[in-house]
Amino acid sequence: MHKHRIGTDVTVLADQTEVPGIGHLPINAFVLHADQPVVVDTGLSLPDRDFVSTLSSVMDPADVRWIWLTHPDRDHTGGLYDLLDAAPQARVITTFLSLGILATERPLPMDRVYLLNPGQKIDVGDRTLAAFRPPLFDNPATTGFLDTSTGISFSSDCFGAVMATPEQAAAPDVADLPQAELAERQVLWAGIDSPWIHHVAPDRFAEMLAGVRRADPSWILSSHLPPAQSIATLLDNLLPTPQSSPFVGPDQAALMAMLAQFEPVSA
Ligand SMILES: [Fe+2]
Ligand SMILES: [Fe+2]
Repeated sequence: MHKHRIGTDVTVLADQTEVPGIGHLPINAFVLHADQPVVVDTGLSLPDRDFVSTLSSVMDPADVRWIWLTHPDRDHTGGLYDLLDAAPQARVITTFLSLGILATERPLPMDRVYLLNPGQKIDVGDRTLAAFRPPLFDNPATTGFLDTSTGISFSSDCFGAVMATPEQAAAPDVADLPQAELAERQVLWAGIDSPWIHHVAPDRFAEMLAGVRRADPSWILSSHLPPAQSIATLLDNLLPTPQSSPFVGPDQAALMAMLAQFEPVSA
């Protein structure tokens, strides 16, 4: 786990996981150091992760007031219930659909939730957070948000990329990465995470990206990319996604071939 600071306002809790044959996927959660502190997503659900203890190296978990759950996928909900226990004042900002999805495994207590839809805003003491639907998403419950005081945008899965190395996945800024490769990897991830994009007209998708450009974010903090200040590059990189080749995962024959490489060779 790496930690990066974005000015005085945000701490990035940068975890990652290996995607066999493709690379290393950043898995970011964030702390927004608002008057009423906001934790954005709660990390991987793997048994060796302890999100609350990681968070406690940044702030006292008991002081958390809001948990912004961008969507209830398991790479975002790892520490959710433990954090609710550790932060008795905290409520989960999420959507009605998110509650329904969570209820299929472990319902959230109704007095610990705050439902907010794209287009709505919430005041967290010293700033207002404006919820929006990112141009790409893999879960219908998804909401990102813009911190209207700093212009920092939290985009959930949108703008992610599986990076080539663990070091690249943990980079403090995408500007430090090889840029041509970044563009290819953004398009690959976009097609993997949001395969419906291949059914979207390219000019319609360009309009959706233009909406992000008009919001003029100072940073884009994706759950699956190092922090990015080069907004125009990030947006331009995604433009070809609708016309890109759909991702097809390895089939059983490919899996058997991969496993055979690991079989011991007799002398
Ligand atoms: Fe997701
Ligand atoms: Fe995700």
